[in-house]
Amino acid sequence: DKKRAPTSETSKREDLERHTSERGTYLTTNQGLRVDHTDDSLKAGERGPTLMEDFHFREKMTHFDHERIPERVVHARGSAAHGYFELYEDLSALTRARFLCDTSMKTPVFVRFSTVVGFRGSADTVRDVRGFATKFFTQEGNYDLVGNNMPVFFIQDAVKFPDLVHSIKPEPHNQMPQASAAHDNFWDFVGLVPESTATLMWVLSDRAIPRSYRMMEGFGVHTFRLVNEAGDASFVKFHWKPKLGTHGLVWDEAQKLAGKDPDFHRRDLWEAIEAGDFPEFELGLQVVPAEDEHRFDFDLLDPTKFIPEEEVPVRRVGRMVLNRNPDNFFAETEQVAFHPGHVVPGIDFTNDPLLQGRLFSYIDTQLIRLGGPNFSEIPINRPVAPVHNNQRDGYGRQTINRGNTNYYPNSTGGGCPMMASATQGAYVHLSERVDGHKIKNRSDSFRDHFSQATLFWNSLTDAEKDHLVSAAHFELGKVSSMEVRERMVNNFNEVDHDFACRVAAGIGVAAPKTPNAKNHGKASPAVSMEATVKDTI
Ligand code: HEM
Repeated sequence: DKKRAPTSETSKREDLERHTSERGTYLTTNQGLRVDHTDDSLKAGERGPTLMEDFHFREKMTHFDHERIPERVVHARGSAAHGYFELYEDLSALTRARFLCDTSMKTPVFVRFSTVVGFRGSADTVRDVRGFATKFFTQEGNYDLVGNNMPVFFIQDAVKFPDLVHSIKPEPHNQMPQASAAHDNFWDFVGLVPESTATLMWVLSDRAIPRSYRMMEGFGVHTFRLVNEAGDASFVKFHWKPKLGTHGLVWDEAQKLAGKDPDFHRRDLWEAIEAGDFPEFELGLQVVPAEDEHRFDFDLLDPTKFIPEEEVPVRRVGRMVLNRNPDNFFAETEQVAFHPGHVVPGIDFTNDPLLQGRLFSYIDTQLIRLGGPNFSEIPINRPVAPVHNNQRDGYGRQTINRGNTNYYPNSTGGGCPMMASATQGAYVHLSERVDGHKIKNRSDSFRDHFSQATLFWNSLTDAEKDHLVSAAHFELGKVSSMEVRERMVNNFNEVDHDFACRVAAGIGVAAPKTPNAKNHGKASPAVSMEATVKDTI
């Protein structure tokens, strides 16, 4: 097994090229039949009706009628690029993932950047979180790092994700507003869910209007695990650091660009790659030894918290270069299917309740978005590692499996794969003792919704603070309910009194009289409900 050729940057490219149809010199039907004429349908006489017999017309029109697939339920608007990842140093002390151990490998990658809220045809430069999803085509299978450009998330538990997304998408009765978070429903929701406050600070900051996809950081958000050959696990946060640095637009530029060039980020990425000015990102790790799990004043399982880089420095371990634009937007950028559950040996999950729910959601949505259970056979999704299993049939099946054996165990041996052991590169889940009551509580530190929001506010320069306050004026100034505006100001008063007063002054709300920045640990309504459950056990 060890003798297998190192993954080369070109191996995925060759795989994709096998699926690229050549341009011919003549037109054919889907059956390969040459077509003499495509400008007129077959009619009964010059002025007569079109005939059902016109198979070319029927085939062409039927295909057209079926050319749209559902857009992603979130992150519908995206732009992608091919490239490669290479490692600076052998990380085998931390992980057995081969692409993180062998510095001679060049692992092919496909990266899709996205906005979260807008439709497929929406503008690029809106105020929003950006997706930063990377598919590594490793020799051990595909590994997907499905991250965002902010290190924290709005909610702590996946069960709230449908509410969050319902609140931020255009309102159900009139499908407005389409752009930005300037939104009654959204501010109503987040005001009632104080755990979202830290992420809201990032969303109101310049991070939410990046200058370019080439100039954004990326974050895995959740705490994951690295596991080495001996089975020793450590906790890890993943980072992408752009070589060009992190830069934002200013709001006036963002708004004008959204009107004048809605494809601004897409064009920027495409043109940079065409010009040979390849975007580069360094992969960074924040590693926390297993014995330090409880060292922080927040829970590593809480996705609304990040690990300050002053506490655990980011170790840069490799670089990713994006050097090729996709050949076909639909086939690649649209049909690519990322999933945080696509892992390789040496990378494992934690019990972060947001991550655990994501592990269900992605494949569930892709089953409908990509038309059934065989979307892993779509060229952009196919691993470069061989696939052997007993899965058969289903819509859009492309593999022609030979032989009569499609079950395990069997006594024929024919065509049916045997199991591999861990030493042969099989994925073995980290053995972790889990023991507890069936409850809906979260650990106590999950109730501190504001400390890190304060940390973020304090980290900003004066100009960045001014931008953030202006953004709050713009967004909250459009909220029709004064009660919702006041609620947000009260939440901001938990973050920083001066900040709350400055926001209040711009949106017609009375400034809070006293600072309340130390009221950490205040429960959100949902947590209060769960606290009742706790009391009964
Ligand atoms: C896309 C669900 C949280 C990053 C998606 C999609 C779903 C989804 C259903 C569409 C996938 C598709 O159609 O292929 C969820 C749920 C979450 C959650 C249920 C929380 C419970 C997050 C978080 C991050 C994230 C915390 C970042 C760390 C992304 C990205 C995409 C995406 C980058 C776009 C992938 C692409 O470019 O195709 N998410 N998500 N999501 N999600 Fe999440």
